[in-house]
Amino acid sequence: MEKLLEQELYILSYYRACELAGAILFGRLAMHTDIDSLRAPLTRHCLEEAEHSWLWTKVIKKLGCIPVKVTDAYQTEYGKEFGMPKNILEILCLTQIFEKRTLEHFNKHLAMDGIHSEIKLALQKMIDDEAGHIGWIRKELDIYSAEYGQAEVDEMMTKLEDIDEKVYHQLLSKEPFKTYFKNI
Ligand SMILES: [Fe+2]
Ligand SMILES: [Fe+2]
Repeated sequence: MEKLLEQELYILSYYRACELAGAILFGRLAMHTDIDSLRAPLTRHCLEEAEHSWLWTKVIKKLGCIPVKVTDAYQTEYGKEFGMPKNILEILCLTQIFEKRTLEHFNKHLAMDGIHSEIKLALQKMIDDEAGHIGWIRKELDIYSAEYGQAEVDEMMTKLEDIDEKVYHQLLSKEPFKTYFKNI
């Protein structure tokens, strides 16, 4: 069994932490939402992010390591820029932007040379599931814009896209991401 590179171990542990942060957030939202129609999809979303976190944990274990402690997930950086999402529009938009970024990033990671087959399999599974996440959120955003207008949704999406752009570039400027993803 080959051991993960130190860089790779950190990056996979970071992915694991972000999925876990997602599961915790969606679990909270599923618990507290007053919108009946969102209770089931939020619960499912919580489940799938928890599964993703477990999948990364299993990959790390299969490759001979244990996950390292990572507490500053991607969502924490959003939090510093934006605060906790306060209403349904903010939740939907924030999730949509985050899922799109994750999908794009995982696709780039998957296309890199020399990626272990276990990591590739996990990335592919996440890519398939994230597409589903984007789908249900898109549907809810369409319902929202039909009721309250497209302009409000567009404005929020633009604001969050700018924040996401900043957070992503900050992440890629830090080690070990900087070196590991220098060619993406
Ligand atoms: Fe996920
Ligand atoms: Fe997701």
